[in-house]
Amino acid sequence: MSRVIVLASGKGGTGKSTVTVGLAVQLVKLNKRVLLVDCDSGMRGLDLMLGVENELVYDVSDAVEGGCDTEAAIYSAQNMYGLYLMPAPLSAEDEVSPSVMKELIDSVKSNYDYVLIDSPAGTGSGFDAAAAAADMALIVVNPEPTSVRGAVNIRMKLSKLKKDDARLVINRFSLKRFRSLGVYKDLDHVIDACQTQLIAVVPEDMQIASVAQRGEAGKAQPKSAVTFKNLALRLEGENVPVAKKILGIK
Ligand SMILES: Nc1ncnc2c1ncn2[C@@H]1O[C@H](COP(=O)(O)OP(=O)(O)OP(=O)(O)O)[C@@H](O)[C@H]1O
Ligand SMILES: [Mg+2]
Repeated sequence: MSRVIVLASGKGGTGKSTVTVGLAVQLVKLNKRVLLVDCDSGMRGLDLMLGVENELVYDVSDAVEGGCDTEAAIYSAQNMYGLYLMPAPLSAEDEVSPSVMKELIDSVKSNYDYVLIDSPAGTGSGFDAAAAAADMALIVVNPEPTSVRGAVNIRMKLSKLKKDDARLVINRFSLKRFRSLGVYKDLDHVIDACQTQLIAVVPEDMQIASVAQRGEAGKAQPKSAVTFKNLALRLEGENVPVAKKILGIK
C-alpha cells in the first residue's frame, strides 16, 4: 500500500524541500517507487533540486484542468530510476484547491510506494492543499524558538484537519550553534516544545545544501545523508538509532 506523506513547517526555510529530496533519494535506494508532489505554487523548487527544470512543460494545474493527461505532468528524475516529480504551477494564481489536489493524488498514488508532498510554509490554503491527501506528516523544524512556534502551529492545524499521525524532523542541527544559542538545554526540550514525536535529526551540513541546490541530489551522497537513510528506514518500520557521531553528540 502506498504512503502519502506531507512535509510541513510553520516557518519558511526550515528545509522542507531539501529534506523531501534527501529522503526521497534514500527511499529509492531501498527500491521504493517515489513520487514527489511540489505544492509550493509560485515558488516551486523540487525541479531544480532534481535537475529537471529544463524538461518541464506541464504541471499540477495542467493535469487538473485537462490541459494534459496526469502522466504528462509527471517527470522522471535524472540519474534516479524510480524517482518522479509532479511540479507545482509556476504562478501562485494557479494554486489547486485541497479537494482537487486530494482527488489527483488519490488517482495516482497506487503506482508508487511513497508520495512525498512538499508544502509551502505556513498554515494557509497552500498547506491545506498539500495536506489534503496525506496520511502522515513530517514536521520540519530548526532548533530555535521561532521555528518551534511554527511547528506547534502546524501541529494544531493538522489536528484541526484530523491528521494526527505526525513526526518531527529536526533539521540543520549544529551542536556548536545549539549551545551558543543557549535557549534549549538539550534536544529533548525542543521535542517537548514541538509536542511531536521525533523521527530524525539532520545536521547542518553545507554538502546537503550543495547537492540539493546543484540539482545533484540523486548523484552525490554527502556523509550526513545517512541521517536521511535512517529516516527512510524508520518509515519502513526499522528501529534505527540516531547517528550521534554525525551530529557531534557523544
Ligand atoms: N541540513 C541542512 N544543512 C545546511 N543547509 C540546509 C540544510 N537543509 C536546508 N538547508 C538550506 O536551508 C535553506 C532552506 O532550505 P529549503 O529551501 O529546503 O527550505 P524550505 O523549508 O523548503 O523553504 P520554503 O519554506 O521557502 O519552501 C536552503 O538554503 C538550503 O540549502
Ligand atoms: Mg520549499
